[in-house]
Amino acid sequence: MSDVSTDNRGKATMEKITSLAKRRGFVFQSSEIYGGQSGAWDYGPLGIELKNRIARNWWREMTQLHDDIVGLDAAILMHPRVWEASGHVENFTDPLVDCKKCKARFRADQIPQENLSSKKCPDCGGELTDTRKFNLMFKTHIGPVEKNDDSNAVYLRPETAQGIYVNYKNIIQSSRMKIPFGIAQIGKAFRNEIVTKNFIFRTCEFEQMEMQYFVKPGTDVEWFNKWKERRWAYYEKLGVKMDSLRWHQHGSDELAHYAKDAYDIEYLFPMGWKELEGVHNRSNYDLSRHAQFSGKDLQYIDQENNNERYIPFIIETSAGLTRTLLMLICDAYDEEKVADKGSGGTEASGDDWRTVLRFHPAIAPVTVAVLPLMKKDGLAEMALDIRQELKEDYTTDYDQAGAIGRRYRRQDEAGTPFCVTVDYESKENGTVTLRFRDSMEQVRVHKNELASRLREEIKAYKRTK
Ligand code: GAP
Repeated sequence: MSDVSTDNRGKATMEKITSLAKRRGFVFQSSEIYGGQSGAWDYGPLGIELKNRIARNWWREMTQLHDDIVGLDAAILMHPRVWEASGHVENFTDPLVDCKKCKARFRADQIPQENLSSKKCPDCGGELTDTRKFNLMFKTHIGPVEKNDDSNAVYLRPETAQGIYVNYKNIIQSSRMKIPFGIAQIGKAFRNEIVTKNFIFRTCEFEQMEMQYFVKPGTDVEWFNKWKERRWAYYEKLGVKMDSLRWHQHGSDELAHYAKDAYDIEYLFPMGWKELEGVHNRSNYDLSRHAQFSGKDLQYIDQENNNERYIPFIIETSAGLTRTLLMLICDAYDEEKVADKGSGGTEASGDDWRTVLRFHPAIAPVTVAVLPLMKKDGLAEMALDIRQELKEDYTTDYDQAGAIGRRYRRQDEAGTPFCVTVDYESKENGTVTLRFRDSMEQVRVHKNELASRLREEIKAYKRTK
């Protein structure tokens, strides 16, 4: 039932993750029946549940748990001057080289230096072109006709952050926020990426979860360190394997044009250590530039401090939502040899492997699956009634097809943390089997106590494997 090859048994590879994601309806290639659209992906029934849960979890963390952070949902299309002010028109570029022979295209900073200096294609040995700058923003136009002078050109936003900066005064005025305070936003961003390999890791259309925290100049280093700590703790709370995370400080050659200091949280993906989230000290660059380009006064007036005026510094935490989804699938992925459980033959015996996604129950796409041992004798009806009740509080699944052991495996592969099995004893005394994904242990619980028991289990969940 899983595509575990014997060589790679027990190991997560991108191939296995991609195949499981497709097979179980997490992620599909965009426009697949037309041969696929590179750099774009579609999220299937389990994928969208997972993505929504990650987003909700982050949103809760940022807004509900922080009195000093409010939310925003700004438009993807913004005034084109925004991107001149932000520096993206001038600086948001990748260095690009092409092979004249095989036509392969590379990011100059991602091929060996010796290929670059000898202008030799790393794929076929053919001659490479000179390096040229390539702007990553997608350009389109407003109105029915594209004008030659670009006067109606607009860009699809390459980061959600700018929507926050241009609304910072609106939010102070409408919500009476006082510095220090933050604005959180989740939304799509678009980049014309040259290299779009590694599944959904780097795509042209993706989603970001960004929080911009406005602070008094001089307090920025302290807040930067605080946000670094908080973001690290966030992943710990999500149950991520902490030895698969590390910090990487940007060197002077890596710093973005706006950054005073920047650290990435990197995750050990199957293809190596890669950026997951950035924590940036953006100084007062963005607001100063917007003040300059818009002609508006974007100074903060500190009424509690003799009306002191200043342009705030900004500490940014910027995570990819779709990249976090990939990370969480990789992190949850496990293949396990299943020992003979013996108890009623409900789990496998002998040489059997299971593929299991050990998602934290707070983000698992399905929280609980209800399974009648048999379709007949009223067990299916009872199971459907139980599902109906659990639906009010949890995302549920129902499966009555095939042997119970196989049904558990299907739920393991989808990352469902709890299964409830209705059997003949259930009819006699109202108890059901509650089966735990990670340990495969089973306990009997009265059906009336299921909802509250699940709540306790979710709250107390600690990943052990
Ligand atoms: N506002 C700052 C900013 O956008 P970034 O380092 O360019 O900083 C932040 O991006 C995060 O967005 C990254 O850490 C990554 O998780 C995600 N991200 C960036 N480009 C992406 C892409 N092409 N595909 C998927 N996720 C991407």
